[in-house]
Amino acid sequence: MVFNMTSAEPNIQMNTKDRSNQDPINVDRELNRLLIKVEACKKCELFKQRQNVVFGEGSIQAKILFVGEAPGSNEDVQKRPFVGRSGKLLDRLINESLNMTRDSVYIANVIKCRPPENRTPLRLEINSCIDYLNRQIELISPSVIVALGNTAFKALTNTKEGVTQARTKLYSYRNIDLIPTFHPSAALRNGQRVVEMMKEDFLKAANLVR
Ligand code: URA
Ligand code: SF4
Repeated sequence: MVFNMTSAEPNIQMNTKDRSNQDPINVDRELNRLLIKVEACKKCELFKQRQNVVFGEGSIQAKILFVGEAPGSNEDVQKRPFVGRSGKLLDRLINESLNMTRDSVYIANVIKCRPPENRTPLRLEINSCIDYLNRQIELISPSVIVALGNTAFKALTNTKEGVTQARTKLYSYRNIDLIPTFHPSAALRNGQRVVEMMKEDFLKAANLVR
């Protein structure tokens, strides 16, 4: 029998998926449940110096999920992801490339607590925290994940390659298309050329939305 993947029939993957995750009321409730858990988390040493846990925010029905590295000082104070200079650039790229606002996507980080002096998160910290992001991915169920920078990309793919090489290829994480791109802070440091590449990558992500 020819199995026509383009037919309107739901495919096998859809059938095995937990459909309760698609119910917005349920997703909202489960995300709130997770938030309460993360706010009490002491699984790694980073809990000691945080002012706030930065859980992530956006539309619970988002098709595009942006994953950053970890909160910085502004995020730690405001309890929200990407609200400093990197965040302003991310907002602008979401507006200009996707013609969307940040509240119609979802924005989260690999790590939910600020590392001291904004150092790169340790492997141990990533391993302690990653299941919270996994649960967010499961609940929001985006059609594409955009990994912002090497920390996010490597945390999600186990690749040694950096985003500079990787961004020409397509990856997936838990059966979801994954686009590697630069962290906005790299664009702030390196200028317009990086901004343009990020715009291209955001467009690639938009084209994968279904
Ligand atoms: N950089 C990140 O990776 N995440 C934030 O939330 C802010 C800055
Ligand atoms: Fe828990 Fe993650 Fe914060 Fe570590 S960084 S304390 S694992 S929430």
